[in-house]
Amino acid sequence: MEDIKVKVEKLKKIINGARRIVVFTGAGISVASGIPDFRSADGLYNQNGLVGATPEEIISHTFFVNRTKDFYKFYFKSMVYETAQPNLAHSYFANLEKLGKVIAVVTQNIDGLHQKAGSKNVYELHGNVLRNNCTNCGRFHTLSEVKQSAGNTLDGVPRCKICGGIVKPDVVLYEESLLDDTVDGAINAIQSADTLIVVGTSLVVYPAAGFLRFFKGDNLVLINKDKTPYDSYANLVINDDIITTVQDLIGN
Ligand SMILES: NC(=O)c1ccc[n+]([C@@H]2O[C@H](COP(=O)([O-])OP(=O)(O)OC[C@H]3O[C@@H](n4cnc5c(N)ncnc54)[C@H](O)[C@@H]3O)[C@@H](O)[C@H]2O)c1
Ligand SMILES: [Zn+2]
Repeated sequence: MEDIKVKVEKLKKIINGARRIVVFTGAGISVASGIPDFRSADGLYNQNGLVGATPEEIISHTFFVNRTKDFYKFYFKSMVYETAQPNLAHSYFANLEKLGKVIAVVTQNIDGLHQKAGSKNVYELHGNVLRNNCTNCGRFHTLSEVKQSAGNTLDGVPRCKICGGIVKPDVVLYEESLLDDTVDGAINAIQSADTLIVVGTSLVVYPAAGFLRFFKGDNLVLINKDKTPYDSYANLVINDDIITTVQDLIGN
């Protein structure tokens, strides 16, 4: 295996020479912020005590409609981290945008941490827990309104402050489609990039993972602790922690 320092040197050269970087992220970039991913050994899928269904079933549209109470029990416990703060990796990529190197972040995450770190051009393929809408009248609710409402109802399901309808997070559940505008923006950015840096994603959730195929630029870089199905397509694969990788990048 190539020495990690050599790989980081290669990455540094790639970033120095790049003019249009797109950063494509998954749950792994937010693990250091205290938000567990899904598929690591200590990720959500390997934790016990769930409400009689797999997380994939629970965060599906059917489950939301039929078992709303159980959906929210799982959702508030395992998917909402209101106090999480961006980490060094989020800030590093936000800074590369300020420097004019990064043209966009395309993320599968729903935690809003890229924006909190200062990234402006962010395509959230799977939505964001900070936004919530009434399923009846469409009224917008903040996360704290939703949490407060859930705490005030007997079944723990948040209700609209205007009409009493059930409020749904603006998060793309399994069986639901991605938003057209977000998909178009993400694909356009990837198509026009000279460098694609993929961070902290197992690349098994579709259609998001398939977006990598739109990249026609010079350098595809994958930074992920575990191997992914796309490793053989990449110019550079760093199977390491994103935080130590960024520390090495900025420290050298
Ligand atoms: N923070 C979040 O918003 C969050 C958290 C969990 C799941 N999700 C959602 O779940 C789906 C899961 O797909 P996914 O591919 O994003 O996540 P995933 O759990 O399938 O994969 C995460 C990957 O990150 C890697 N990883 C973990 N910690 C890392 C670190 N410190 N440095 C480098 N790599 C690290 C793991 O090896 C793993 O392959 C997504 O659709 C996403 O919307 C989001
Ligand atoms: Zn309403």
